[in-house]
Amino acid sequence: MRKAYIDSIGMYVPSNVVTNKDLESRMDTSDEWIRERSGIQERHHVDGECTTDLALKASEEALEKAGMKPEDVDHIIFSTMASDYFAPGGGPMMTRRLGIPGTPALDIRMACSGFLYGLSVSKAFIESGAYENILLITSEVQSVALDFSTAGRDTAVLFGDGAAATVIKATDADQGILTVKTHSDGRYAEDLMLRTPSTLDNPFLTHEVLDKGYGRVSMNGRTVFKHAVTKFPQVINEALEASGVAKADIKLVVPHQANLRITEAVANRLDLELHKVVFSNIHKYGNTTSASIPIALYEAMAEGKIERGDYVVVASFGAGFTWGASVIKW
Ligand code: COA
Repeated sequence: MRKAYIDSIGMYVPSNVVTNKDLESRMDTSDEWIRERSGIQERHHVDGECTTDLALKASEEALEKAGMKPEDVDHIIFSTMASDYFAPGGGPMMTRRLGIPGTPALDIRMACSGFLYGLSVSKAFIESGAYENILLITSEVQSVALDFSTAGRDTAVLFGDGAAATVIKATDADQGILTVKTHSDGRYAEDLMLRTPSTLDNPFLTHEVLDKGYGRVSMNGRTVFKHAVTKFPQVINEALEASGVAKADIKLVVPHQANLRITEAVANRLDLELHKVVFSNIHKYGNTTSASIPIALYEAMAEGKIERGDYVVVASFGAGFTWGASVIKW
């Protein structure tokens, strides 16, 4: 049966490294507090680059590794919470950046679950026979919407900028994306959001709206934490059950890199076989929203932790709330 498999991944983070010490000079925080609560040591922030700049670098690497030219891409899926423009989205912009005008492009705004939703759409597109070569781009610039004063410290220290691009191709071989399970629950929309520009305000961008702080990411950290540690293990078990793959056969679990404490709590709630193999690189990048899973997959491959034929689980939780998990035979 025709399947969709991950052929290659490219990644890019801006060269500007922001350490916890750097943040100490901008707000009342400490390296110790940030490490203890999140495991983060440093993150990368843009310095003059925009979302599609990061996306282009990651895409070029992914295409080169796949032995493809931009013209070989027959569909772009673009996930971000911060496009170059509020409208149009980043997908059409990437056809311009890659020099492939006319290529279909779909935007996804599913926050930290953007990669999971992107896998879900890619799998359906490829298995139906509609497309052969999909470029799933996850590119995030959150630093421009964070409040770096002490008032925003609980959120600002967590996020970093970064991008990944994943080439997903059709195959008849015994490999590929076996299952993807996704969920959403808008009852918690306000617990993690970027409110403005919003149609709740008319006109939607005024000084008054911005003075209220609506142009900054806001978060109810405890509510996010509580739901994340419940939903991650639930959806991982759901995806595993649907795939028929035994837990003992899973080589690596790559959760969205939200926070080391969430990752550890999730690992503790999973069975022992899975606990051993949970991957983390949050100390270097912070939370890069929808780019975090493919960046982690990229590094896990580079470290030899994933090889062709291995069973890998990826899982996410984020704003919406949204969450999901996928089982992949690499
Ligand atoms: N530096 C220093 N102190 C900080 C701080 C910072 N960056 N941010 C918050 N604090 C302070 C608070 O003001 C509070 O002070 P108070 O006790 O004097 O009021 C104290 O630290 C404890 O705050 P609290 O909110 O109870 O901390 P917490 O243990 O819940 O940790 C988070 C806060 C944000 C780290 C935690 O809730 C969390 O990880 N949530 C999930 C966030 C996440 O992953 N979001 C993305 C999901 S995709």
